[in-house]
This record gives sequence, structure tokens and C-alpha cells, in this order.
Amino acid sequence: MSQTQHPRILLGVSGSIAAYKAAELIRRLRERGAEVQVVMTAHAQAFITPLSLQAVAGQPVRCELFDRAAEAGMGHIELARWADHLLIAPASANLIARLAHGMADDLLTTLVLASAAPLAIAPAMNHQMWSHPAVQENINRLLARGVHLLGPESGDQACGESGAGRLLEPQRIVEQLLGSEHRPLAGRRVLVTAGPTREALDPVRFLGNRSSGKMGYAVAQALTAAGAQVMVVSGPTALTPPAVERVIPVETALEMHAAVMEHIDHCDIFVAAAAVADYRPQAPSPEKIKKHHHEFQLRMVRNPDILAEVAARHPAPFTLGFAAETEALEAHAREKLQAKGLDMIAANWVGGAQGGFDRDENALLLLWRGGQRELPLMSKRQAAREIVHTITERYAAFTARQNFGSPPG
Ligand code: C5P
Repeated sequence: MSQTQHPRILLGVSGSIAAYKAAELIRRLRERGAEVQVVMTAHAQAFITPLSLQAVAGQPVRCELFDRAAEAGMGHIELARWADHLLIAPASANLIARLAHGMADDLLTTLVLASAAPLAIAPAMNHQMWSHPAVQENINRLLARGVHLLGPESGDQACGESGAGRLLEPQRIVEQLLGSEHRPLAGRRVLVTAGPTREALDPVRFLGNRSSGKMGYAVAQALTAAGAQVMVVSGPTALTPPAVERVIPVETALEMHAAVMEHIDHCDIFVAAAAVADYRPQAPSPEKIKKHHHEFQLRMVRNPDILAEVAARHPAPFTLGFAAETEALEAHAREKLQAKGLDMIAANWVGGAQGGFDRDENALLLLWRGGQRELPLMSKRQAAREIVHTITERYAAFTARQNFGSPPG
């Protein structure tokens, strides 16, 4: 049997009132064919007993680092190697702090350090705790290290208050970890622009930019994984084309514009990740330009703004733009969101140490009317998954507004 049919999941349960939901989570994971081994922290046992989780997991639950009986069977290093996925749900503020600092003071944190398997955490705590800068700093550290964050959700809390900090529902944890059976963007058509454009000076020379196409391709791939039918209009890149429904190669901004306008009609979502040249030479030379003169002047004309044009359509699809900035990131990105009438914008620094053009990593600030989300430096693939997660949420609000005319969210 393949690993994907029977993924091996090491589930860590830490001390939170939501620990009781671990029982349902184990049940749902096993319904999907997963093998589940459970490790509980000392604080988790104050909320639910190991025996209860053992009954649903069908395996002994491990709690102690120095456990002679367990070390004689599957020792902690073997357990760390056994896992295909490490999942910690619920992850308390205390556990998140211990993970962020690389501690190994109990079995669960030791296993995390001893395992090469990807780690996903589903935090659960009071909303004040969740928004505390110390917790957010620890979360950012973990995200930057490649940890996958599942939730938390907003809503009523056990303490009687309301806000962000609720454990993501077990079914959604399973979907995000093992892939969704009802993929959130299934049936949605998405058009993505990616890569640079090239503006001809003469038959052999062009004006270009440093865009590699990596971010756009990664978003296209993540949209496909979320169930969308994706078409990519791509400028020239050195990358393997993404595995999407169709890739249309173009070179110039005018070609990109024409390809987008031809296919935008039935699209639900438009993602403009291309670095489109704002200007093109007014009259490219039909022959190779010779070096007869000391200097020569180039007259440039504006290219159409593809994204702004798509956003101004009636009806317009959900539009996501990118803003590459070298200063005043948030202010410039908000201005662009407003000026181009976008639903969402992903802003990043370019030219500095924070990733951006022609890099494998990127740090981004996602903005929409009335909200924002910061993605610290992480791989473009992971950033793409997080962007698609936010697109899914914002797109749901967008369609709700269209259907019911409710106020913007
Ligand atoms: O205004 P600025 O070029 O900074 O905006 C960047 C965003 O607009 C990106 O999403 C880019 O793909 C899109 N854009 C476009 N057509 C242009 C210029 C930018 O679609 N001509």
C-alpha cells in the first residue's frame, strides 16, 4: 500500500481546552486511511486522558520521554522516523513557544526535532493570547522555518469571549493536511499571469526585468491543488511549465494583454503575478540597431494595465494583484489596491534581503479592504499555498457580497 493511501501521522496533543477535539480528529484521520500514533504533553493530560485517545487511535498513547517499556518497543527516534506527517492539534501557546525555541524538554518536542517529516500545527488558545506579540513572533519563526499553520479560526471561545484562536474544525484539519475531498476552488476558473515581459528594441534586443516566474507558477500550482481549473499566460521563463490546464506563452505586454482579454470572460478569479513592462519602445527598429552614434534616444509609450482593465470589467472576476516595492510597502500597496479597484494585493519588497524577484523565497504582506495578513520569509511554494488559502477565504466573502449585496468584509 502506498504512503498516500495510509499516511503515518504522529499526532501531538498539547494542553488546551480543545484537547478533547483530538478524539474526533483521530477518528477523521483514520477514516481517511491514516495510521495515527498519539503523543500527549503533560498539560494535555489535564484535559483528556491518554486512555480515551488510545481507544480511538487503536494504539498505545505515548506521554513520557524516558519510558522504558516504550523504548523497548518503538523508541522515540524510531517513532520520529516512522512518521510521514507531524501534526500538533491543538497547539497551545506554551507548546508553540517551546517549538519556536527548539526545546526538547518532553517527548513531543524531542520528536519534532528528531523527525524530518513536515510539521503542521493547529493552534488553539484565547484570542488575546493568540494576538499577543510574543505568540505572533513565535508563529512567524515557525512559518519561516517551513511549519504549516492550520487555522486558527475566529468565533466563540470556551472562555465565553469571541475572536481568533479557535482550533480549526477537525474535518478541515484533515482536509488541509491530506488534501481535500471537496476542494475549496473546485469548479472555479482562474487565469494567472506570470513571468516577465520582453519589449523589443530591435529584432535581437529587448527590455526585460528580473522576474523569474517562480511566484506565479507556484500560485498556479497551489490553485490547481485547491481544485481550480487554471490557465497561465506566461512571459518567457527558464522554468518547467506548471502542471495546469493550459499555459499560453507570450512575450510582450501587448501579447499578454491580448491573451488575457481573449480568455477572461468565463473566469472567476484573476491573479496578476506577471511583472509587466509599464512602457514599450514606441517604434522598435526593424533592423538591428548599429553603434554608429555616441548616444541615441529611445521613445517609450505606455503599455495597457492588464490588471486594472480586468478589475474594471462589469462584472469583474475576483482580482489579486502583486505589488513589488522598494519602499513604503504597505502604503504603496494599499494605494494600488484602491487605485486599480482590486479585491486583494500581495505586496513584497524587491531588491533587498527579503526575497522577491529571482529568488526561491519571499516575504509578503497580503492586503484587502479592511484586513491584512503577513507572511514572513518562506519558500515561494509555501507562500503560494498560504496565498491560495487567503484567496479562498476572500473569494468566499466576494461571492457572498455579490449574491446578497452584504457590506464589504
Ligand atoms: O502598478 P504596478 O505595475 O506596480 O502593479 C503591479 C500589478 O499590476 C501586478 O499584479 C502586475 O501583474 C499588474 N500589471 C498588469 N499590467 C501592467 C502593469 C502591471 O497587469 N501593465
